[in-house]
Amino acid sequence: MQTGDFTTLIKSRRSIRNWQDKPVPEQLLLDAIELGTWAPNGGNQQNWHFYVILNKATIQAIAEAVQSGMSYMSSWPEMAQARPSPPPGSPPPAPRMPLSAAPAIIAVGTSRTTNPMNEAMTKRAQTDTRAAEMLQWATIVDSRIQSVSAAIAYLLLALHQMGLGAVWMTGPLPQSKGEIEKILKVPETMDIVALIPVGYPAESPTRDRKPVGEVCTIID
Ligand SMILES: Cc1cc2nc3c(=O)[nH]c(=O)nc-3n(C[C@H](O)[C@H](O)[C@H](O)COP(=O)(O)O)c2cc1C
Repeated sequence: MQTGDFTTLIKSRRSIRNWQDKPVPEQLLLDAIELGTWAPNGGNQQNWHFYVILNKATIQAIAEAVQSGMSYMSSWPEMAQARPSPPPGSPPPAPRMPLSAAPAIIAVGTSRTTNPMNEAMTKRAQTDTRAAEMLQWATIVDSRIQSVSAAIAYLLLALHQMGLGAVWMTGPLPQSKGEIEKILKVPETMDIVALIPVGYPAESPTRDRKPVGEVCTIID
């Protein structure tokens, strides 16, 4: 691959939320996941797991779990202030297909591992303020989430290269993680951290990025 091709691949990938009513070959998803697993990851532990869901009834069950969690949360008076209002003059958001319309979903899990350094910090933090601060930093730089995130980023690029469109979703999980894990029979030691609905794109959205100068500081 030429550098220019790689640049085009990265810049042309967009989150896709509307799909054609066309089945996605299982093998394509497995090939994309295999590429995802070449992502850098903490200690090369590769403690991720990908649930490939093509069964319509299971997709429907996941969509219902998500809807139920969202409806419950929407009923809270506290949510009235939590809903972001669009900036004045902004175009109406593009219509989105419901999750149930996704031809496939990849649910991404990561297993809980014991980390002896974190265990030492946790013990020590009870009596040592510096250790408590280190423990807090360890939570922020969480290698487990960073590793699985790297794999998801690679996976999205691989899907895009194959002509598929997907979106990385964490939004519904705080309200439905437990139900989805039950549906997928996810072991106790694993957490689902993202849902990736996938299909052949039925939209070509555009997005921009902040100029690099705005997100970059050169340290002399
Ligand atoms: C950690 C993470 C969580 C996201 N969660 C959601 C989500 O719940 N729902 C959604 O529609 N998009 C979600 N997205 C997609 C972002 O909205 C999208 O990547 C961003 O707006 C930039 O658009 P682009 O991917 O088309 O460049 C998520 C992306 C990331 C990285």
